[in-house]
Amino acid sequence: METPVTPTVHRAVCPGSFDPVTMGHLDIFRRAAAQFDEVVVLVTGNPNKNSGLFSIDERLELVRSATTEIPNLRVDWWSGLLVNYTTEHNIGVIVKGLRSALDYEYEIPMAQMNRNLTGVDTVFFMTDPKYGHVSSTLCKEVVKYGGDIRDMLPAEVEKAIKAKYAPS
Ligand code: PNS
Repeated sequence: METPVTPTVHRAVCPGSFDPVTMGHLDIFRRAAAQFDEVVVLVTGNPNKNSGLFSIDERLELVRSATTEIPNLRVDWWSGLLVNYTTEHNIGVIVKGLRSALDYEYEIPMAQMNRNLTGVDTVFFMTDPKYGHVSSTLCKEVVKYGGDIRDMLPAEVEKAIKAKYAPS
């Protein structure tokens, strides 16, 4: 696959399910925004399929409320192939965070597949060690059973998870 011509505006996308967004994700968004002219946080998934704790709209809202202070970041959603989004929006780089070898094993085939499809590159930022154990799945579980996830989730996200698990 030929390396595509580098666009003049350096755009990157941070894709993910973000169910919900964590402080670990936010750290990667901030670091990406410091390296690229424009960053799109792309919530992926089908809005008509109810998978996960939060709907696509709720995930978007939580990402938006947690990223208002990053001026060159916008939030969008997509239910198709990631590479079709990057091509349509003239985005040259996919940014992902790597916490461990487990993430590496999961991410490498996707990065290679995406590059093979359109030539889009994936850049990995090493997760800050203080977020090495932070995942959406674990945070939801800890909040559900009343644990302390201080510093791992934005306040609005913690509140939103608690509301989901509140007895009706
Ligand atoms: O937060 P996740 O679940 O690790 O995110 C994975 C995601 C959404 C980045 C990946 O599943 C993806 O790129 N989905 C879009 C559909 C697609 O392009 N699939 C082929 C990937 S090689």
